[in-house]
Amino acid sequence: MTPMPALLETSLPLPLARRGKVRDVYDLGDTYLFVATDRISAFDVVLSPGIPDKGKILTQMSTFWFRHFGDIENHLVETEWDAFPAEVRAHAELRGRSVIVRKCKVVPVECVARGYLVGSGLKEYKETGKVCGIKLERGLTTASRLREPIFTPATKEETGHDENISFERMCAIVGDDLAAQLRDLTLRIYQRAAAYAETRGIIIADTKFEFGIDEHATRGNIVVWIDEALTPDSSRFWPADKYAVGSNPPSFDKQFVRDWLETTGWDKTSAPPELPDEVVMKTREKYIEAFRTLTGGEPEL
Ligand SMILES: Nc1ncnc2c1ncn2[C@@H]1O[C@H](COP(=O)(O)OP(=O)(O)OP(=O)(O)O)[C@@H](O)[C@H]1O
Ligand SMILES: [Mg+2]
Repeated sequence: MTPMPALLETSLPLPLARRGKVRDVYDLGDTYLFVATDRISAFDVVLSPGIPDKGKILTQMSTFWFRHFGDIENHLVETEWDAFPAEVRAHAELRGRSVIVRKCKVVPVECVARGYLVGSGLKEYKETGKVCGIKLERGLTTASRLREPIFTPATKEETGHDENISFERMCAIVGDDLAAQLRDLTLRIYQRAAAYAETRGIIIADTKFEFGIDEHATRGNIVVWIDEALTPDSSRFWPADKYAVGSNPPSFDKQFVRDWLETTGWDKTSAPPELPDEVVMKTREKYIEAFRTLTGGEPEL
C-alpha cells in the first residue's frame, strides 16, 4: 500500500510554542499539544523529503514506553484522540502523531545512557580512553559491550551540534542534586528498557532522554520524563542475532540514513542531498519494523 505523503509542517490556528527539527509544539493554555511531523534530521540538519508516517510511529512508540514505565513520572496528559479539544480534532492529519503533555521547564542537558561503544562515544574513547570523563578499560572496539552502562550527558545546543560533557560539567549547569537524580534515573530506565528489549531480540546500544521540571505540580517542583522515549530517533536499536563486536550491526534506526549520507560525500555544512525514494521507503520500513518488534503490535497509520 502506498503511504500518504509525508506531513512536513503543521500550521494550526493556535499559538506555536516551539518548532523543533521534528516536532511542532502548540500552546493549549495549561498544556502543550505535542505534534511529531514526518521531518527527519541527521547530523543536526533537517533532510528532505520527510519519511511518511514517521511522526506517528515515534509518537506511538513513545507512548508505549511511557506506559511501560508507569511508575516513572512522564509528561503525558492525554493520548486518546477522541478526548482532544475539538479545535485540534478539526485537523484529522494530526491523529496518531499528537499527544497532550504537561508544560515543563526543559533541563538543558541531554541524558544519554550507553551500554555499547559506538558513535561519538567510540570516537572519544579512541582519542582519550574516556567517554564524558569516564575512564574505560583498554582494548574496547566498535560495538563492544560495556561492563556496565554509563551515563554520558551532552549539552542541548540551540544551534549546532550537541557536545558530550563530563558529569562535573553537568553538575555546574543544573546543580549537584538534580544531576545525580537524572543520572540515576537515566541509568535505571535504560537498564530496564534494555532488559525488556532483549526479550524481543533487540539490543538498545544507547539512548537519549530529556527531562523537565513541572513547576505547577501540586506536590511542588517535580522531575518529569519528557519529549520522546526510546524511539529510533533517540536510540540505537540493533537486531541481537546480527550483533558482532568489531563491526557496526545493521540497525532499526536512523543509522541507515546517516550511513547513506556518508556515501554521498556531503560536507555536513552545505545543503544536504535529497534522500532518494528508495532510502525514504527503506527508512520507513525500518521504523515500522522497530515498532512491531519492540511493542508486538502494529502502529496505527
Ligand atoms: N513536556 C514538555 N514541556 C516543554 N518542552 C518539551 C516537553 N517535551 C519536549 N519538549 C521540548 O520540545 C522540543 C521537541 O521538538 P524536537 O524534538 O523537534 O526538537 P529538536 O529538534 O530535537 O530540538 P532540541 O535539540 O531542542 O531537542 C524539544 O526542544 C524538547 O526539549
Ligand atoms: Mg528532539
